[in-house]
Amino acid sequence: MKSIIVLGAQWGDEGKGKIVDIYSEFADTIVRPTGGNNAGHTLVVKGEKFVFHLIPSGILHPGKKCVIGNGTVIDPKVLLSEIDKLKERGYLQDDSQLRLGLLAHIILPCHVLLDRAREERLGLKKIGTTARGIGPCYEDKAARVGIRGIDLLQPEVFSAKLAANLEFKNFLFKNYFGLEPLSFEAIRDEYLGYADRLKPYLIDTSLFVNDEISRGAKLLFEGAQGSLLDIDHGTYPFVTSSNTTAGGACTGSGVAPTRIGGTVGVSKAYATRVGGGPFPTELLDVDGDLIREKGHEYGATTGRPRRCGWFDAPVVRYANRINALASIALTKLDVLSGMPRLKVCVGYEVNGVRFDEVPLALADLEAATPVYETAEGWAEDVSSAREFGDLPKAAQKYVRMIEELCGVEVSLVSVGPDRKETIIRKNPFRA
Ligand code: GDP
Ligand code: IMO
Ligand code: MG
Repeated sequence: MKSIIVLGAQWGDEGKGKIVDIYSEFADTIVRPTGGNNAGHTLVVKGEKFVFHLIPSGILHPGKKCVIGNGTVIDPKVLLSEIDKLKERGYLQDDSQLRLGLLAHIILPCHVLLDRAREERLGLKKIGTTARGIGPCYEDKAARVGIRGIDLLQPEVFSAKLAANLEFKNFLFKNYFGLEPLSFEAIRDEYLGYADRLKPYLIDTSLFVNDEISRGAKLLFEGAQGSLLDIDHGTYPFVTSSNTTAGGACTGSGVAPTRIGGTVGVSKAYATRVGGGPFPTELLDVDGDLIREKGHEYGATTGRPRRCGWFDAPVVRYANRINALASIALTKLDVLSGMPRLKVCVGYEVNGVRFDEVPLALADLEAATPVYETAEGWAEDVSSAREFGDLPKAAQKYVRMIEELCGVEVSLVSVGPDRKETIIRKNPFRA
């Protein structure tokens, strides 16, 4: 298999960063096609922790090229701080290791303010966004009034676009939200300063990645968020504002589907969600608290406690439908050790009607009661397992149950946060 996509099969935070870091060893170039600094991808390498919001998780591998594609939205301040921190820690010593899409849209302070103001106005009905300006930036892109990396390099073009954009936003801030307008001059000066620093990284990324494929390089696409947060296929409106599914990897990078070999879906051995929206298997009891504490289920971006629940097979089966998963990388199996019995959702009941698939109507999903099958738990700590056979029999059975219910094989089992705490059953690059 030539190039592969790694993406989230649930509601995000599945452990994509860890999996991308592991697969990066077998890839030449790692591409982040969509999303922005709403993402938080955590890696632990030899006990050292790294959290990436925009930079691909392959960056710790010397010599691997990393690309942030045109489908992303870039907050320059956040990206530059990520670059600085990496350099301080001895990574990214060669700037040519990182490339940014000239056509990626730029997050402005008015996007962040609009995100916050709108959420506040929604009150209890809020989406629970990461408040990073992601939605408003993608809105401007779709409305064709956005500002892109390429504009930053032309001060006059940038200033004119910023002035037009801000005129409308300030009207909203003042007249709809009752907020102080933002200063054009302050934003212009701040962003033209960023432009100087971003310039060495900004290139035609679709040309670059397609040339890489033509010369035989293996690409690894690092998805952000999760399939159920996809703007078209997720639990709308409780979604993010981009396509988080396999198609997004193509549009976000400018690489055709025929040039990509397959997709690996990352899923936790249970389920979590941050922010609002339906979550049928959510545990509001002691089991939920246990998973949250043992799994350190607190957001890598916002620090919010993640909602925790049992594994939802129709959700992952749905992700398989949209993405045609070649296999699943199953993470955080270690967190379930010590639970006497585990539940797996196999369908739902909605007002007395049985659903085998995820209901599309939000009201149905909100009213859905999970239909569970019970699995035997295991007491042993599994974090030292390196072969599938090292796992207790009940844990092996649990993994096989997930494979059967989702109709996809599990090619990797993660048993701890560290790079080495992993059981690789099959290498997707060699499949
Ligand atoms: P991502 O957004 O999909 O990259 O996932 P996050 O980094 O937001 O959240 C996953 C969290 O789980 C991170 O803190 C990881 O270090 C951690 N993690 C990943 N795999 C495992 C695992 O198998 N076991 C445990 N205990 N933690 C893991
Ligand atoms: P990674 O890549 C989990 C959620 C937010 C909110 C909704 C919309 O780390 O898996 P947004 O700020 O995107 O407009 O918020 O999407 N969300 C995530 N949840 N992991 C993420 O990224 C997320 N990115 C956004 O919590 O519910
Ligand atoms: Mg995350």
